[in-house]
Amino acid sequence: MILKTRVMFGDFVEVLRKLELGGRGLLCCRRGFDHRRLEGMELRVMRVSPEPELNELREYWEEVREERFDYVLAIGGGSVIDAAKVLAALMENPGRIEDFIGVERIGRKARRLIAVPTTHGTGSEVTKYSVIRFEELKLKRSVVSEHICPEVAVMDEKLMMGLPPDLTIYTSMDAFCHNVEAYLTKLSDPLVDLVCEEGIRLFFEGIEGAMRDELDGRKKMMMCSLLGGVAITNAQASLIHALSHVLGGMHAIPHGLANAIFLPAFLRFYAGDEKFESLQLRMGVRVAERIGELFEDYRLKRLSDFVTEREAVEIAERAFQNQRLVGGNRKRVTVDDMKRLALESM
Ligand SMILES: [Fe+2]
Repeated sequence: MILKTRVMFGDFVEVLRKLELGGRGLLCCRRGFDHRRLEGMELRVMRVSPEPELNELREYWEEVREERFDYVLAIGGGSVIDAAKVLAALMENPGRIEDFIGVERIGRKARRLIAVPTTHGTGSEVTKYSVIRFEELKLKRSVVSEHICPEVAVMDEKLMMGLPPDLTIYTSMDAFCHNVEAYLTKLSDPLVDLVCEEGIRLFFEGIEGAMRDELDGRKKMMMCSLLGGVAITNAQASLIHALSHVLGGMHAIPHGLANAIFLPAFLRFYAGDEKFESLQLRMGVRVAERIGELFEDYRLKRLSDFVTEREAVEIAERAFQNQRLVGGNRKRVTVDDMKRLALESM
């Protein structure tokens, strides 16, 4: 197990003060974020749009490439942190963003990056991933590099209060998927297993409280998301993310929802798996049933709300080509398995 990021908990302003960040920083945040609490820090503010496309990232870089920054501070959801990772990498590795795509394609460690998540989904504050949307290819592709792991993650559940219900359930589902997918890869090890098991437990304990916008529920989801990030950076995600990266490239669907759509069929695919069964016995939770109930309670959409059957098959075929994610599974996966999974999600 490797954790490249120093993880700190508490009021984010106090923690940032403790870090004594000297010099000038590039603050990446979402449009509505009020940065007045950060007075005293010398910051250039950059607003990041949700799930930015490659060309938008290029524009962000053009805006700031001539300026000098001592660090990058990302305060926001996965899109903001992922964009900040790319900008911090470019500061040390001049070149084209698309050349970063793939596994360990970045030569030098990114500029000092501090990540403060305001949603509880991606776990990007501790991961080596940045997901980029390619409009032309109708696909999402990943930068995978230890050189973009944030140096510090600041965990403050108060920042997550007030997240709207749809984003709450979507981001929580993303965090859950990271834990359960990583758990069912061949790459997991005994320590990663413990992380995933705790992440899965926290999800079921906290999801209802988070949906009621209670601080304790938010904290549990924040931890679930953080653990999911540790899990996928040491093991990796798998079938659900292979499918959702294709779906999310074809249609503007929030990442967490795109994952949730494939989750029930993925759990059925792993029904009877020895490791998965023993986890459920120990936890005393029938995972697929509980997820089914949450689908009912929170009226989550299905794949058929977005695509035709023909498109579902196409999604499966394209997702199967992502052997980085598909090949790591505990169970052998064929293209027909992927098609079945997509069609069952309709
Ligand atoms: Fe994800």
